[in-house]
Amino acid sequence: MYLKTLSIINYKNFDSKIFEFDSNINCLVGKNGVGKTNVLDAIYYLSHAKGYFNSVASQNIKHGEDFFVLDGTYQKEEREEHIHCSFKKGLKKVVKRNGKEYEKLSDHFGLIPLVIISPSDANLIIEGSDLRRKFMDSIISLNDKDYLQNLIKYNKILAQRNSLLKYFAANFTFDAVNIEVYNEQLITYGERLLEQRKVFIKKFTPIFEKRYQHIVNALSEGKYVEQVSLTYKTQLEKINFKDLLVNTMEKDKLLQYTSAGVHKDDLVFKINGYPIKKEGSQGQQKSFLIALKLAQFDFIKMQSEVKPILLLDDIFDKLDEDRVSQLIDLVNASNFGQIFISDTHPERTEQLIKKAKQSYCMFTLG
Ligand SMILES: Nc1ncnc2c1ncn2[C@@H]1O[C@H](COP(=O)(O)OP(=O)(O)OP(=O)(O)O)[C@@H](O)[C@H]1O
Ligand SMILES: [Mg+2]
Repeated sequence: MYLKTLSIINYKNFDSKIFEFDSNINCLVGKNGVGKTNVLDAIYYLSHAKGYFNSVASQNIKHGEDFFVLDGTYQKEEREEHIHCSFKKGLKKVVKRNGKEYEKLSDHFGLIPLVIISPSDANLIIEGSDLRRKFMDSIISLNDKDYLQNLIKYNKILAQRNSLLKYFAANFTFDAVNIEVYNEQLITYGERLLEQRKVFIKKFTPIFEKRYQHIVNALSEGKYVEQVSLTYKTQLEKINFKDLLVNTMEKDKLLQYTSAGVHKDDLVFKINGYPIKKEGSQGQQKSFLIALKLAQFDFIKMQSEVKPILLLDDIFDKLDEDRVSQLIDLVNASNFGQIFISDTHPERTEQLIKKAKQSYCMFTLG
């Protein structure tokens, strides 16, 4: 599956632009700020019905305008898929597949699988557990609608329980029976999520470790191999959900939100036994993130038998020659599908891409 044409109207710095893409490699080149990442973001938008960098639709509209429209035509085996995403200030977001508007946006999820590797992924290591859970949840949900439904229900109950805790605090009251109703539902959906996540991590970890070793081994020429690990961290390892909610009840009343549950679980990233956030060098962190995202690619491909579109934003930046050439070897060896690459050096990019021995197209912006 690949994106054949993309039409952009009033999205970020673009007023009106049409692209016709190659089915293999597409390079977006140009100086800083010309809109290379914005094009990748528009492609991301068509897959996820939201921007990667800013999920607030109104902030993706070109300054001074009041709407944006994105249209993409994909070739999916023998047939074409047309995806339309638009947003006008004050109205709700519109997402259409082949001219027909979705009733639920979640129905679109997974139709056009896509993996993005961008400098902002560093947040996955640096920031709190929220992003890491989202990363994991999005991969699982892509091929498991049941998981997505459980997650939506869990989050809904969680929001209702939190509102109730706020209501109790505001009115100096408490109703244990009422809370219990929410607890039961939270436990039902939470335990399912936990089981599904554990199954996922078991499958995902070896894929990730293989990707990391592939990058590092080849680079270190077998001298020293770094060991990386990825583990799921949950309070529910030591205590069941019911008891956990009972134990944290007083704390929750004070905080006016639900302080414990699977919405607090995390992924722990380690290198040689130590947290990558504290001990990993910048290069190791970047390699870790590339391996994570390539594992995401492998996992989706394995589960859905569709090669996700791969967006590589500034991938060559900060990488030395060895790593760049390793990356190109990887592109050759990995049997990726359609790839989009953004870079500020047109000549460097074209020279590198030629080595990949696949058809390609260069797009100069600005
Ligand atoms: N809502 C918006 N309306 C108009 N312009 C916008 C909007 N949002 C972002 N921009 C502009 O988009 C440009 C940034 O585009 P983008 O991030 O795609 O650049 P880039 O080509 O990837 O640059 P770099 O090489 O630095 O990564 C900035 O000039 C910014 O002002
Ligand atoms: Mg950019």
